[in-house]
Amino acid sequence: MENRQQFASRYGFIMAAVGSAVGLGNIWRFPAVAYENGGGAFLIPYLIALLTAGIPLLILEFTMGHKYRGSGPLSYFRMNKGAEWLGWWQVLVAFVISTYYAVIIAWALSYTVFSFDLKWGDKPDAFLVGEYLKVADPGVFGSLVPGVLIPLLIVWIVTIAVLFKGVAKGIEKLNKIFLPLLFIMFTLIVIRAITLDGAAEGLNAFFEPRWDLLTSGKVWVAAYGQIFFSLSIAFAIMITYSSYLPKKSDINNNAFITGFANSGFELLAGIGVFAALGFMAQQQGVPVDEVVKSGIGLAFMVFPSIINSFPGLNEVFGVLFFLSLVFAGMTSLISIVEVYVAALQDKFSISRSKAVLFGGLVSALFSLIYASNGGLNFLDIVDHFINTYGIVLSGLIEVILIGWVFKKLGELQNHANSLSDLRTGSWWVICLKFVTPVLLGYMLIQLVITEFKEPYGGYPVDALIKYGAVTSVTIILLGVLLSFLKWDKNKTAKEHKEA
Ligand code: PHE
Ligand code: NA
Repeated sequence: MENRQQFASRYGFIMAAVGSAVGLGNIWRFPAVAYENGGGAFLIPYLIALLTAGIPLLILEFTMGHKYRGSGPLSYFRMNKGAEWLGWWQVLVAFVISTYYAVIIAWALSYTVFSFDLKWGDKPDAFLVGEYLKVADPGVFGSLVPGVLIPLLIVWIVTIAVLFKGVAKGIEKLNKIFLPLLFIMFTLIVIRAITLDGAAEGLNAFFEPRWDLLTSGKVWVAAYGQIFFSLSIAFAIMITYSSYLPKKSDINNNAFITGFANSGFELLAGIGVFAALGFMAQQQGVPVDEVVKSGIGLAFMVFPSIINSFPGLNEVFGVLFFLSLVFAGMTSLISIVEVYVAALQDKFSISRSKAVLFGGLVSALFSLIYASNGGLNFLDIVDHFINTYGIVLSGLIEVILIGWVFKKLGELQNHANSLSDLRTGSWWVICLKFVTPVLLGYMLIQLVITEFKEPYGGYPVDALIKYGAVTSVTIILLGVLLSFLKWDKNKTAKEHKEA
C-alpha cells in the first residue's frame, strides 16, 4: 500500500491550484492579449474558451489525478499503458519551463531590491539589458551574470525547501500565505493605478469593444491559447496536485472555483496594467496604443518607468509590484517542479526527499543557462517553442488520446460526478471530444504556418533551430524512452482503482 501525501483541507487544495494558475501570465500576458484581440469584445471568446475548454480540461485533469492517484506518467499509465509517454512528455515540458520560469522570478527578486532606490534610473530599458542582464549577441553564451545568479540561488533554495516539507506542510502552507498576500499587494497597486491621471483613457482603450475582430480566427486562437496557458493545463500540474486530494473531494466545483478565480485575477491585472499604461501615455503625451507591451518588456522596462513617474511612494509601489511578480511566480514554479518530483518518486520508487533533491538540483543546474549573458535570448526562444508546441500539441494529444483513442471520458465523468455536488452533463464530453480538439488543431496549423512565414522574433534561423527544435525533439524522444522503463510492482497493482 502506498501512503500518498494529502492536502489538509479543501481550501488548501484550491489555494494551491489557484496559486499554480495565477502566475506571470495573468499579470503580463493577459492584458496585452485582450487588448490586441478585441478589447472589451475579447471577453466573449475568452469566456467561451474558459467554459468550453478551460474548465472542462481542469475537471478532466482533476479527475485523472484523483482517480488514478499518481504523478502525470503514473496516472496516464494507469489509465492505459499506451498513454504513459504523454505523461513523460508533459513532465519534461514542465521541467524545461521550470528552468527559465525560475530565472524570471530571480529577476523580479532583484527588481524588488532595486525598487528601494529606483536603481534602474531614467533609462530602464538600457538598465535591464546592459547593466543588469549584460546581454550578449544572440547565440553567445558568455559567462554567468552574478547579479542574476544570486537571486536565482535563493529562488531554488526556497523552492527545494518548500517541496522538502511535503504537500500539506510545504506546498499548501506556502500557497495559503502567498496567495492572499499577492491578492492584497496587487489590489493596492490596482487602486493606485486607477486613481492616476490618465487611467480612464487606459481603461477605455482596454475595454473598448472591437466587435469586428470577433470574426477573425486569430482572436479565437488567442482566447484559447490564453486560457490554456493561464490555467496551467496540459503540463500534468493539475493531475499531480489532485492526486493529493483526499478520497472524498468535490471535483467539479473545485474546477469551477479555480477557473473563475484565475480569470478574476486576470481581469484585475488587465485593469491595473491598462490604468497604469494610460497614466504613462498621458505623461508622455502619446496615445495609449504606443505604450502597450507584454511580457518581459512590460514588467521590466515599462513598469519601472511608470513607477518612476508616480506622484509619490514610488519605492513602495515598486516593491509591491515586483514582490507581486515574485509571489505569483513562486506559487506557479513550485507547482511545475512538483510535477517532476512526483514523477521521479513514482517511477523510481525513491523517497520524496531524494526526488526533491535530485529534481531540484538538476533543474537549478540547467537554469544557469539563462543566468548567462545569452540568457535573455535563450529564454525568449525556448519559451516560444514551449508555448507553441509544448502546450498546444500536448493539449491536443491529451484530448485525442483520452477522448478518442482510449475512450475514457464516460468513465472519468462518472467518477467526478459521483463525488461532486455539481454534476456535468453531455456538454462536458462534447467540449472535450469535439470543441477542444478542433480548436487546438486549428491553432496548431496556424502556428506552424506563421513559423514558416517569419522566423520567430527575427532571430537567425539556425539559432531558432538549435535551441527550439532541438529542445522539442529531445523532449519527445526522452519521453518515449522513459515510458519503456518498468514500474515497480506495487504501482501496477489494482488497488488504486478503489480511489
Ligand atoms: N499559469 C501560469 C500563468 O498564468 C503559467 C504557468 C504555466 C505556470 C505553466 C505553471 C506552469 O502565468
Ligand atoms: Na494564469
